[in-house]
Amino acid sequence: MSPSPTASPRRALLAGVGGYLPRRIVTNDELALKLDTSDEWIRERTGIRARHIAEGEETAAFMGARAAEAALAAAGAGAREVDAIILATSTPDHAFPSTAVEVQALLGITRGFAFDVAAACSGFIYALAVAEGMIRAGQAEGVLVIGSEVYSRILDWSDRRTCVLFGDGAGAVFLHATREETGGRGVLSTHIHADGRHRDILYVDGAVGRRERPGHLRMDGQAVFRQAVTLLAAAVDEALAAHGLGREAVDWLVPHQANRRIIDAMGRRLGLPPERVVVTIDHHANTSAASIPLALAEAVGDGRIRPGDLVLMEALGGGLTWGSALVRM
Ligand code: ACO
Repeated sequence: MSPSPTASPRRALLAGVGGYLPRRIVTNDELALKLDTSDEWIRERTGIRARHIAEGEETAAFMGARAAEAALAAAGAGAREVDAIILATSTPDHAFPSTAVEVQALLGITRGFAFDVAAACSGFIYALAVAEGMIRAGQAEGVLVIGSEVYSRILDWSDRRTCVLFGDGAGAVFLHATREETGGRGVLSTHIHADGRHRDILYVDGAVGRRERPGHLRMDGQAVFRQAVTLLAAAVDEALAAHGLGREAVDWLVPHQANRRIIDAMGRRLGLPPERVVVTIDHHANTSAASIPLALAEAVGDGRIRPGDLVLMEALGGGLTWGSALVRM
């Protein structure tokens, strides 16, 4: 679709948000039955108490479709209004077709376009950046942006340094084109970055393109921690500076849920009281590209985040990739 030459500037309104979590919940104590770890160690170092783990038909496509349905329902929209599906995942059902196309079929949509974005834990911010750019450019009116992950299937379950950190799930937002003057609501801006020099501190050591091994997640936790604190602080500052806003303008921080200590550090940097930082890591663990839309779905669903609130999102993931987004709900 081409933009109308007479149209005033367009913006992507976040019209609805939804999530899906696998039925099975695995507590730290359950992990400690099979692994040399403890509830105390995991809680103290990460803030995680439990995570959802996918079973059977709960794949990235299945969960992504359920989250998308919830987001559309929250927006009061139907599948007919979806022009595009942009899905962030590191754990697709197949090498191809993309998981976005599988979600499209599950939703019964036969028009528009769909593709995946690979940016690990920053995937949702990347997908949001692509979607809002396309809406601003007039290439789409209604876009589903989804993060859906089954990290349980790429974890080395004998490696206590990594396997306790992650969970499965999916989150989605439905973006709809609006005009900039509509109360200032919508995605104000997105800011994405990558630096491949750090590709070996957080990665999966194989894929379908590599014959020798299927691939497990590997991480130098302390190196990731150091990079996260510095790069995320810069991404947060960048988002505020782009609009000449001070930290006090932010109503809510909805961060990627990697580690409670990183989340707390970002909240302190923004001077936000803890109750203004949305935290789900305790019951979701790290769901990678799904963590931000899942956290958003929870805080919108329970009435904490309301229309008109200014929400700052930030994420960092393997690559390294990182970024931020500022959204007026
Ligand atoms: N249970 C018990 N002991 C453990 C566990 C566990 N699950 N994992 C590690 N240990 C042990 C180690 O074996 C080590 O013991 P040793 O000294 O006898 O060898 C000791 O605990 C310390 O290990 P470290 O790896 O140094 O632990 P650290 O204090 O750095 O905490 C953690 C690890 C939580 C991963 C931390 O590095 C961190 O927060 N990193 C940030 C990265 C992150 O959050 N990653 C999440 C995914 S990436 C992302 O989303 C961006």
